[in-house]
Amino acid sequence: MSLQLPDFPWDTLAAAKELAQQHPDRIVDLSVGTPVDPTPRVLRDALSAASDAPGYPQVWGTPDLRESVSTWFARRRHATGVDPDGVMPTVGSKELVAWLPTLLGLGRGDTVAFPSVAYPTYDVGARLAGADPRPMANLLELGPHSPRLLWLNTPSNPTGQVLGVEHLRKVVDWARSRGVVVASDECYAELTWDGTDSAPSILDDRVCAGSHDGLLAVYSLSKQSNLAGYRAAFVAGDAALVDRLVQVRKHAGMIVPWPVQRVLRAALGDDDHVQEQKKRYAARRALLRPALESAGWRIDHSEAGLYLWATADEPCRETVDRLAQRGILVAPGDFYGVAGARHVRIALTATDERIDAAVARLTDR
Ligand SMILES: Cc1ncc(COP(=O)(O)O)c(C=O)c1O
Repeated sequence: MSLQLPDFPWDTLAAAKELAQQHPDRIVDLSVGTPVDPTPRVLRDALSAASDAPGYPQVWGTPDLRESVSTWFARRRHATGVDPDGVMPTVGSKELVAWLPTLLGLGRGDTVAFPSVAYPTYDVGARLAGADPRPMANLLELGPHSPRLLWLNTPSNPTGQVLGVEHLRKVVDWARSRGVVVASDECYAELTWDGTDSAPSILDDRVCAGSHDGLLAVYSLSKQSNLAGYRAAFVAGDAALVDRLVQVRKHAGMIVPWPVQRVLRAALGDDDHVQEQKKRYAARRALLRPALESAGWRIDHSEAGLYLWATADEPCRETVDRLAQRGILVAPGDFYGVAGARHVRIALTATDERIDAAVARLTDR
């Protein structure tokens, strides 16, 4: 069997990185979304308190972990009906994104649809299953053809676009009328910049009319809790679909380690560390965004999440090179699909000191 996976796009950024590294005051690397602030003490304590773990953990997650996910959805996401039976922890969310089509039994002849400007792993997941990847700007593009699985990503990586309740409700109605499973990847939902507590979930009561049939919300604590290194995430929604995932993953040994399950539970019960981190990112964003705008850039969407989706109205690789000359590395929009070819993605995940350096370099004419 031949598997056609895309080239790993970061390799194409090597020359720009080398150039940026030559800056006398060092590189400001805003090309990746990896958290840089310390993992909150409360979560490190939860990890060490759970270090005695001689037995195998449960693939499905402990009942109290699944309960805490359900409570978090009700408290933070306007989703009151999340059934703890329809919750499962995952080893970070990237693996679930990559394996979901396979775990759901999709294969040759099936279509997996996802946004035309998107995190690349939706495409990879379709290919791993042998299904057809179908990027689309909107549902109308699909015409009469129904995918088996539709990915949403709200707030979006890379654009920061948030899908509102109305929009999500229409997507759910459309998907239900065609028997399409909707998986909504929502890992930036608490990082909103428009004054709201969080972006709407696919499981929001106003979106799904109280039924989670055919719906999955995919969530990760990597960003909001500074623990990408722990691999702590979960999926929630349709209990029958989640049961299928649990059964396959039991056979495949895809289990979240017990100490990480305890951290997940602790993190979901503590809003303070998330608010603290949100404030840090808000401060960095408040510096970086006007600096870009005063340098003549336009910022599109970017109403939530950890990125500024910026354009200088030129091909993205030219923008990348111009910034690299100033010692700033950003991700070209073409990493996320051809429709992103005139944008760059600028991450807020750098220390205050590095953000200050970027601002100084952008505003120095
Ligand atoms: C949209 C989106 N989904 C999923 C992930 C994966 O996150 P993790 O595997 O750390 O949970 C990321 C990480 O950047 C992302 O941006």
